[in-house]
Amino acid sequence: GQPHLADLVVFGGTGDLSMRKLIPALYHADRDGRLAPQTRVIAMSRGGLTDDDFRGKVDAEVRGQVPIDDPEMWQRFLGRLHHVSVDVGSDDKSGWDGLAKLLAGHEERDRVYYLASPPRTFGPFCRELQGAGLVTPHSRVVLEKPLGNDLRSAQAINDEVGAIFDEHQIFRIDHYLGKETVQNLLVLRFANAFLEPIWNSLWIDHVQITVAETVGTPGRRGYYDHAGALRDMVQNHLLQLLTLTAMEAPARNDREAVRDEKVKVLQALRPIIGGEVGRFTVRGQYTEAGDMPGYLDEPGSTPPTEASRQVETFTAIRAEIKNWRWAGVPFYLRTGKRMPYRRSEIVVQFKDVPHSIFPGGSPNRLILRLQPEEGIELHIMAKEPGAGETTLRPVPLSLSFGETFTARVPEAYERLLTDVLAGNPTLFMRRDEVEAAWRWIDPILEAWKADPALPEPYAAGTTGPAAAHELLSRSGRAWHDQEDV
Ligand code: BG6
Repeated sequence: GQPHLADLVVFGGTGDLSMRKLIPALYHADRDGRLAPQTRVIAMSRGGLTDDDFRGKVDAEVRGQVPIDDPEMWQRFLGRLHHVSVDVGSDDKSGWDGLAKLLAGHEERDRVYYLASPPRTFGPFCRELQGAGLVTPHSRVVLEKPLGNDLRSAQAINDEVGAIFDEHQIFRIDHYLGKETVQNLLVLRFANAFLEPIWNSLWIDHVQITVAETVGTPGRRGYYDHAGALRDMVQNHLLQLLTLTAMEAPARNDREAVRDEKVKVLQALRPIIGGEVGRFTVRGQYTEAGDMPGYLDEPGSTPPTEASRQVETFTAIRAEIKNWRWAGVPFYLRTGKRMPYRRSEIVVQFKDVPHSIFPGGSPNRLILRLQPEEGIELHIMAKEPGAGETTLRPVPLSLSFGETFTARVPEAYERLLTDVLAGNPTLFMRRDEVEAAWRWIDPILEAWKADPALPEPYAAGTTGPAAAHELLSRSGRAWHDQEDV
């Protein structure tokens, strides 16, 4: 759809996410003509800034992050920006009055309230908005992660926000859904005929989903100690990738049809409970190596605590989907900080040929690379040239999006913001999805909490603890690792 004329109100509007992702994404969208004229961006923060202060801040902090080929356009963009000071939870309501004044007379516009603030503020913000009469039928609310830290807290957030906004007005962000290759996964699967017939347990041996990061967690201990890799990455990003890989073909490419199929996958995940948690999950924490500090020595505002010692910076899980298509096919999930490379990929490993007439050979693999270089590789067996005995070698049929398509690839947030402004929630998580994901995660968290053992150490810059490799090697499998990439 077309972007509607909107007022976008960003709570936490001067924070890190806003300055690093949202404002640059909005500028890009503006530059490409994807913001309706007159669209305003209203940052709310405690900052006590005037409009001009805020524009100056954006000019100083964002200008260097985006290509400015037309200074006039940049000025016009800055002109869209406003700032309103608000202190959530305080008795001083002048901020809400200020917002109401700014929005008054523009009731016909869509209003998008983007909550880029901690989740404990979601409920209070929504109530203040309603109290100030600012929730119109054309209003939407965008929720940033984390959406709770277990099922109960996620439900509480959903209830609080749901008391004020209808489900169709609530846009829950998982920025992985905005990544170009993630959307391409659906096109690859459902706009091509050759894959779907073999996309099942008859032909597929297992699937690996890896999100490896080289970064550590400097300065984030306060958040990360209570999050850990399972909550920070698996509950949302990796499970979203899993649903898109495993879902049935929706009847239409529309919001409910797509999300209905995704939620069915989450509901079909075989629970990992009690004693199984030790067998099917691995947790690790990075330790010092070379010039890289260990998790406990990362610089930060708070000293490490018991929670720091227990938190996982790496996790690997063997998941299973209990349905006709996937019965018996393990889905291995893995994510970690301070791994040797930054790479997100989905590896679909096919079964071996039913009967081999050549010596050697290895099963086909389809690799969907999400980042850093987006692409698709199909590893096929080929004959090594030569007159002697037939020797097989796996070679990739490779598609690089960067080389094939010259258009600029938009950042995930740009796509998602454009969708919010157009009122399209397909790439946002529905309430039942988020809760189904937590329902599967909770028992793992509980078992870990009850386990006196600490996460297994792994040296910073390596592919995780030994147990992560054993998770696959005990059934004769191995992670797809190319340390030279
Ligand atoms: C965020 C996590 O959701 O995703 C971070 O909180 C993580 O810990 C980030 O680094 C990874 O996103 P991307 O887009 O860089 O893969």
